[in-house]
Parts: sequence; structure tokens; C-alpha cells
Amino acid sequence: MKINRIGVLGCGIMGLGIAQVCAEAGYETWMRDIKQEFLDKGFDQIKALLQRAVGKSKITAERMNEVLENLHGTLELRDLADCDFIFEAAPENMNLKTEILKELDSLCAAHTIFASNTSSLSITEMAASTSRPDRVVGMHFFNPVQVMKLVEVARSLFSSSEAVEAAVEIGKAIGKDPIVTKDNTGFVVNLLLAPYFCGAIKALEDGIAGVEEIDKGMKLGCGYPMGPFTLLDLAGLDTMYNSLSVFYESYADTRFFPPPLLKKMVKSGLLGKKTGKGFYDYSCDPPKVNIHI
Ligand code: 3HC
Repeated sequence: MKINRIGVLGCGIMGLGIAQVCAEAGYETWMRDIKQEFLDKGFDQIKALLQRAVGKSKITAERMNEVLENLHGTLELRDLADCDFIFEAAPENMNLKTEILKELDSLCAAHTIFASNTSSLSITEMAASTSRPDRVVGMHFFNPVQVMKLVEVARSLFSSSEAVEAAVEIGKAIGKDPIVTKDNTGFVVNLLLAPYFCGAIKALEDGIAGVEEIDKGMKLGCGYPMGPFTLLDLAGLDTMYNSLSVFYESYADTRFFPPPLLKKMVKSGLLGKKTGKGFYDYSCDPPKVNIHI
């Protein structure tokens, strides 16, 4: 399938990362969000990352401008009508996602494929809300998208082989190394990662060790690049809390029960790096522990 123009819905942490790697791969890329300030923030972050790469002589200034020229922002869904492939990276809310997909379905050509970056919601349910269920797949990226090599391509009950193949191909074209999974809650990685996060928070709640000790344990003991609390802060505690709630409902398995401490932190606005405070406080360098039990 020939893909010329790509759309990305939502320019939060994941959306802007997806847009950046698409633009870097040479695709004309349209980012759409609901407020100009969200678009501006997304563009600023991409520019800052590219400028940093120029500063480190990883890319030239010409290359940076080339990438930026491939990127376009819009507040209008209809500007995505001519896209051949659209990544959906809106907030994790099924009603919101199906509403957007329904509208896009009425605007886009029949060949356009929709790929949702959801980490926990049903691709099959999203696909069923459109008139092209065979052309809806999951494409779940990992944070930071610009660096992490994996994308999980999820096949729904309706996905055609052609759509799955196109998703794998575009994944490779934007520098990723895809795996294909069934459309089950959490696909492969989050299915295994979620109980790990719950276990780390439970260990902290039980006073087994502090935030830094647990992080250090998993870094040095298992060779993980980050400990669980640093990673939770990076992924966003609200995102993780919402995912765990969906996992728990989906599997009725206590391994996924959102820990009370996580709920407390989310309800009080401690969402991790994006709000400046989570398990760590990022107002100082290096960040210091923010949660002491
Ligand atoms: N955005 C873009 N690029 C980033 C970045 C970010 N947020 N953070 C780091 N980078 C880049 C740096 O620019 C640097 O690039 P360079 O080598 O070209 O200069 C490179 O990554 C390495 O960065 P650093 O040297 O600063 O730091 P590290 O070597 O510690 O690497 C890391 C940072 C890649 C984030 C590494 O710590 C890591 O792999 N952490 C684990 C991340 C992870 O597990 N992600 C999955 C989260 S779960 C998820 O996303 C699922 C979802 O459903 C929630």
C-alpha cells in the first residue's frame, strides 16, 4: 500500500513522538489537536528535541528543517481527509476515540487505515464503530517514541491481513521493529508490565524499601534502564491508573488492582514528570524522592 500522507490525532507525549518519527521518515505528517496551545506545545517539544540533536551534531540544521517542513498542525479533522494512514493518540477514553473515528470514517477515502495507540482499550470495539472495521488496527508505541524500537500491531476480530501488513510495513518505515499481537487488553508488554508496577507500589506501601532503593534494585539487579518509579513517572501516573482500572475490569484479576497509593497520588495531581511531581520531585536536578512511606 502506498502511503504519502499521515495523520496523527492528539499531540500529547505519544502523539508528538509518533508525528516526529513519521516526519523524520519523510512522510507529510498532519498533527491534529483540539486547541492551538496543545499544537504549539507539541511543535515546541519536537523542535527542542531536534535542536538538541543538532547541538550534539547528530543531525544537521538542514535535516532539522527538512523534518519540520514535513510537519503540519491543524485543529480541523477535515484536514486529515486526504491521509492514507491515521494514528489515533487521543486520551484513553472509548467514547472520545469512537466519536473521532466515526467522524474520520465519514471524511476519509475508503483505503485509509486507522491505527489506535491505545494501551488498554478494545481495538475491536473501536473498529465496530466505523464502516471500515477491516481497516482498523492497534499500533501501540512506547515512551519515548523517538527512542523505543517496539511497536505492537494489534489485530482486532475484524482486521484484514492487508491492514495488519500495512501497519507492520509503516512501523518498519518509521524505524520500529514491530510485533503482531491479538487484541487483548494490554497486548503483550503492558500485560506483563502492569503487575510489575503494582508489585513495586505494593512493596513501597508495605515499607519493604524506599522509592530509590526499589528503583536501584531493579536497575542494578535486572539491568533495566530505569527502575519502576522512574518509569511510572515517565509514563504518567494517570495513564497507568486508567490502564490498570481497565485491566482489572477486563481480567477480574487482583494482579491488576490499582494500588491505593497510586489512586491517592493521581487524585491529588501527582502525575509524574509531566506535572513536575510524582514518585520523584523534578523541580531540582537530580530529582529527589517525593513519596516517603
Ligand atoms: N524524548 C525523546 N528522546 C529522548 C527522551 C525523550 N523523552 N529521553 C531520552 N531521549 C533520547 C536522548 O536524546 C538520547 O538520544 P541520543 O543518544 O541521540 O543523544 C537517548 O534517548 C538516550 O538518552 P539519555 O542518554 O539522556 O538517557 P538514557 O540512556 O538513560 O536513556 C531512555 C533514556 C531511552 C528513556 C532509557 O532510560 C529507557 O529506555 N528507559 C525505559 C523506557 C521504557 O521502558 N519505556 C516504556 C514505558 S511503558 C510504555 O510506554 C507503555 C505505555 O502504554 C504506557
